[in-house]
Amino acid sequence: MTLLLRGRLLTFLRAPEGVDDRTAYRYEEDGGLVIRDGKIVAMGAFAPISQGEGRDLEVVDHRPHLILPGFVDAHAHMPQMQVIASFGAELLDWLNNYTFPEETRFSDPAHAARIARRFLDELIRHGTTTVAAYCSVHPESVDALFSEALSRDMLVLAGKVMMDRNAPDGLRDTPRSSYDDTQALIVKWHGTGRLHYVVSPRFAITSSPEQMEMAGALMREHPELHMQTHLSENRAEIELACSLYPEAKDYTDIYARYGLLGDKALIGHCIHLSEREADAMSETRSVAVFCPTSNLFLGSGLFDWQRYRKRDKPLRVAAATDVGGGTNYSMLRTMDEGYKIIALLGEKIDPLSSFWQITRGNAEALSLGHRIGTLEPGTDADLVVLNSAATPNMALRMERIETLAEELFMLQTLGDDRAVVETYVAGRAMKGGLGS
Ligand code: GUN
Ligand code: ZN
Repeated sequence: MTLLLRGRLLTFLRAPEGVDDRTAYRYEEDGGLVIRDGKIVAMGAFAPISQGEGRDLEVVDHRPHLILPGFVDAHAHMPQMQVIASFGAELLDWLNNYTFPEETRFSDPAHAARIARRFLDELIRHGTTTVAAYCSVHPESVDALFSEALSRDMLVLAGKVMMDRNAPDGLRDTPRSSYDDTQALIVKWHGTGRLHYVVSPRFAITSSPEQMEMAGALMREHPELHMQTHLSENRAEIELACSLYPEAKDYTDIYARYGLLGDKALIGHCIHLSEREADAMSETRSVAVFCPTSNLFLGSGLFDWQRYRKRDKPLRVAAATDVGGGTNYSMLRTMDEGYKIIALLGEKIDPLSSFWQITRGNAEALSLGHRIGTLEPGTDADLVVLNSAATPNMALRMERIETLAEELFMLQTLGDDRAVVETYVAGRAMKGGLGS
């Protein structure tokens, strides 16, 4: 069976260079998107596309809504769904007082299964079709998330956190067990369906040098895998990490010494990097992951998106929710808060760049631009359908909007899960079935 979606199609061709950069994207006002076997097979103006296809066609008319590639969230924590919105702490206290106790609950497979299901429900409700996720230290938490993702045919990247110190009982592994458990999970899950395993040393503070060696060994043995960790989120964290690794030049150098930087390295936060550290990130093609709602909520600092993008040695950048340090599952809300952080630094991020970032930009940051993040034929049919008049407020504002860029900026500023009409995963409509 072939599916033909009708609506206003928008896909990015490259990173936009400003709000007037019309050659950075393709927009079809009355577009048709043909989907077969979970993949996009054609994209273009509706009339010629619909005539070119045979009769065995199910047409879904999404006019006047926008159809974009599904959003990509480059960093979120599945086991933190029930600590989102916890009052009054900066990073280290927030981890010790709320997050670590919560994550101990994921030794229970039934709990892990329930939260994994709710996690993917929530992402789909918000138009996100791919996430790079942290699970807890327990291998069962990865089993839970990957089983759930597999049953939905979602492209999910995830791994068990490796953490063997500075954490409570029930939440620590050992260098050996973290290595063995990770190897077993790679064999069990990586490449099954659309799943990707991510080697996940949580951060330098919760890993001993011996465990960091193990993480490095895993990356040497599996260079095709992603690696995710946290870096330079707040001052107290930086000081503690550097005191635990006195031989390292700086926090970034800790990860460099164990061979963890590289083009598959997804490094959360990177807020307070020195020029030397930014150079090291750039030279290794590591990805700095911007988590606006988290950085504001935990009072961590302001990520200088424009400085990182415009410096002589630019950084690859992704954007992410960092739920539950982050406060919203929506990539629209994420970029709205990102816009405000960049504004506080005296710069702007234009709406084309925002929407590029959460689609093609994030897909490329995850080295998955050939599979997701665009509407190009041959790629996976992961899509979001957006209603720019989803609320009375938005509908009223929409009356005065004249350009696509203005519409996108309004969607980012006022939109949330209410603007997501439908989310398609591998060609299947997923949001409608969830109820509200
Ligand atoms: N650093 C180490 N672990 C975490 C985490 O779970 N959330 C955030 N925001 N930072 C971290
Ligand atoms: Zn995080």
